[in-house]
Amino acid sequence: MTDLSLFEPLSFAGLTLKNRIALPPLTRSRSTQPGDIPNALMSAYYRQRATAGFMITEGTQIEPRGQGYAWTPGIYSPEQVAGWQQVTRAVHEEGGIIFCQLWHVGRVSHTSLQPDGQAPVAPSALKATAVKVFIETGPESGALADPSMPRELTTAEVRELVEMYRVAAVNAKKAGFDGVELHSANGYLLNQFISEHTNHRTDEYGGSLEKRLRFLREVTEAVISVFGAQRVGVRFAPLFETTTEERVYLGLVESDPHGTYIRAASMLNDLGVGYLSIAEADWDNSPDLPVSFREALRETFSGPIMYSGRYTEKKAKQVLADGYGDLFGFGRTFIANPDLPRRFRDGLSLNPVNHATLYGGGEQGYIDYPFSKP
Ligand SMILES: Cc1cc2nc3c(=O)[nH]c(=O)nc-3n(C[C@H](O)[C@H](O)[C@H](O)COP(=O)(O)O)c2cc1C
Repeated sequence: MTDLSLFEPLSFAGLTLKNRIALPPLTRSRSTQPGDIPNALMSAYYRQRATAGFMITEGTQIEPRGQGYAWTPGIYSPEQVAGWQQVTRAVHEEGGIIFCQLWHVGRVSHTSLQPDGQAPVAPSALKATAVKVFIETGPESGALADPSMPRELTTAEVRELVEMYRVAAVNAKKAGFDGVELHSANGYLLNQFISEHTNHRTDEYGGSLEKRLRFLREVTEAVISVFGAQRVGVRFAPLFETTTEERVYLGLVESDPHGTYIRAASMLNDLGVGYLSIAEADWDNSPDLPVSFREALRETFSGPIMYSGRYTEKKAKQVLADGYGDLFGFGRTFIANPDLPRRFRDGLSLNPVNHATLYGGGEQGYIDYPFSKP
């Protein structure tokens, strides 16, 4: 046990994080339409939370087919890059550090969100179950739909996608981000390639674990070529011991989650990736991440490890003291408490989150959560 506080600075990739409290990626569906463009409202939201030691944007689609929910921002058009410039400028003015989460939903989408109403794309033509996508949003009026049947990507298209990730990283750099995080969690495209239940391919991108990890490896190498390895993070959501439907929809059914993700972490360590982010199960009564996994991850990956999923200040301090994690994402808590680090530091009470305003809408439930009194 070491006695580290959440306010101990953390250095990696030439950056000095002022504390261990992170804003994890949080989809809020408030981009400007048409065009899924980041706007002044979003820059105000991120600016408010820039006392976090580290910030990651909401999932940001790398191409039009990568969208699975209405109003999420993209990073493939010049207008989107200009919109993100406002966000990174605001965060940097406040002394914050911000990475862009590069997102492709793969099969977790609906034809109404796809270019020309086409089927979503995926490693294999297997429909996502037990998940809903938002095809329209607005405060409390989000229209939900089942994801559509996807079509299988050709091998040439998989290679094109690797290039799209590279271009997205180029755009993220132009937009002023400090780095990028690959969303390889929660059942989206990268995760769909990893899981043997969503990847039935017979080309070099499917079959053995090494082949199922190939897309992640190539995408990671592509974004490293833009930002350098240290400025690239990867997010996983390994899931253990549950029989709930979430396990299916998240695409996380792995016969061997420990073996799969420790192998993936080892591959990323060899590539020199800057940090790993682990999204733990976050629903009521969700299973705990096994300590044996935390230990093996620590032994395998030499950079910082971030954990998120129902963390409290107390739990974060415990995992930090145990030596398993370096950085902690507070999702719903940070949404409701823009000055969360200060509240932790001064032992102040926390605002509750309003679930009705999480996705879509305007200022309400977005930039109007009260700051604590000075
Ligand atoms: C409204 C909302 C949107 C989210 N959007 C994303 C996302 O875009 N990308 C991602 O990797 N995780 C996303 N997550 C998961 C969070 O990053 C985090 O892991 C989760 O909220 C658990 O942390 P918490 O219990 O502190 O809220 C989202 C969670 C919420 C509540």
